[in-house]
Amino acid sequence: MRGESVRLDGVSRRFGDLKAVDGISVEIPNGSFFSLLGPSGCGKSTTLRMIAGFEIPDEGRVLIGEKDVTREEARKRPTVMVFQNYALFPHMTVRENVEYGLRVRNVSKADRKTRVLDALKRVDMDNFVDTAVTSLSGGQQQRIALARAIAIEPQVILFDEPLSNLDVALRQQTRIELKDLQRRLGLTSIYVTHDQEEALALSDQIAVMRDGRIVQVGEPRALYDNPKTAFVASFLGGSNVLTDPAIAFELTGKTLRSGEAVAIRAEHVQIEEDGPFKADVVSRQFLGMITEVELRFKGVALIAKTTAVVPSEERLSFHVLASTVVINDL
Ligand SMILES: Nc1ncnc2c1ncn2[C@@H]1O[C@H](COP(=O)(O)OP(=O)(O)OP(=O)(O)O)[C@@H](O)[C@H]1O
Ligand SMILES: [Mg+2]
Repeated sequence: MRGESVRLDGVSRRFGDLKAVDGISVEIPNGSFFSLLGPSGCGKSTTLRMIAGFEIPDEGRVLIGEKDVTREEARKRPTVMVFQNYALFPHMTVRENVEYGLRVRNVSKADRKTRVLDALKRVDMDNFVDTAVTSLSGGQQQRIALARAIAIEPQVILFDEPLSNLDVALRQQTRIELKDLQRRLGLTSIYVTHDQEEALALSDQIAVMRDGRIVQVGEPRALYDNPKTAFVASFLGGSNVLTDPAIAFELTGKTLRSGEAVAIRAEHVQIEEDGPFKADVVSRQFLGMITEVELRFKGVALIAKTTAVVPSEERLSFHVLASTVVINDL
């Protein structure tokens, strides 16, 4: 199995007056793991659905490999979608679920049998062929959904928040398995999520979306270290974004031009005795490995994250370790 590249060329989709997807152009390399990351309603699923063929763009083109598939039916595309709710058939066994897509594609009985087993082996579920899917755990059902997807031997696999129904521990484990499987299969994977940590952990490249547009594309580390906009800095990096030039200058020494802001990562707000600045403590959240402290400095909210023990005073002093200048809008 191997993948195909995917290219979106000025793709838009309107629903009434709403531009759900607004002129997206992006190139997704063959065999890469590419995430669409953004808040609820920013157009992630609509974009994915246009690649799958469940939605037709009003403008622009969708190319898979060299082929323009903009108007091609979903079932004729070399794509497959894995959904958040798994979309398994509850009255069928594991085998019947995985086999379903092959039946629809008129694969012969003998081939179906080997492909079902092969797919189940790849997700480590071949001991469950005759089990009813309803008796499986959430994580196991997710693997069956994945086996069903890879059984049809797609070139491109599309994930719409596939882990969001799992608990935290299982999510992390499934995430590692998913990445491992993707590497072994070499399939082009496009992954929709609003969870920045998930996108950072899984992706070769991330496109950050807002209001139907892509605001920045890049490798996880590059986006995290060099956000171009205030939105990317706060959404992806969880940074504090300060727009007041006087306060920005006081805390970071940086002079802002109009339309610029300064981004300070929460882990760079260092709480320490005798730091140069003093702030009121608004709240403290002990989260295990880290404590998150909300500070108020001259009327401006600042989040600090630290692995150290935070003193229980109502005012704390701090200093700022590092900051980046970003453009405040788009
Ligand atoms: N079939 C539709 N009819 C009307 N509006 C729609 C339709 N599908 C999506 N929308 C609207 O388009 C916008 C983008 O929706 P989309 O589902 O792509 O967002 P999303 O980024 O996947 O959000 P979420 O994280 O909540 O799943 C939303 O405002 C949504 O309400
Ligand atoms: Mg969605």
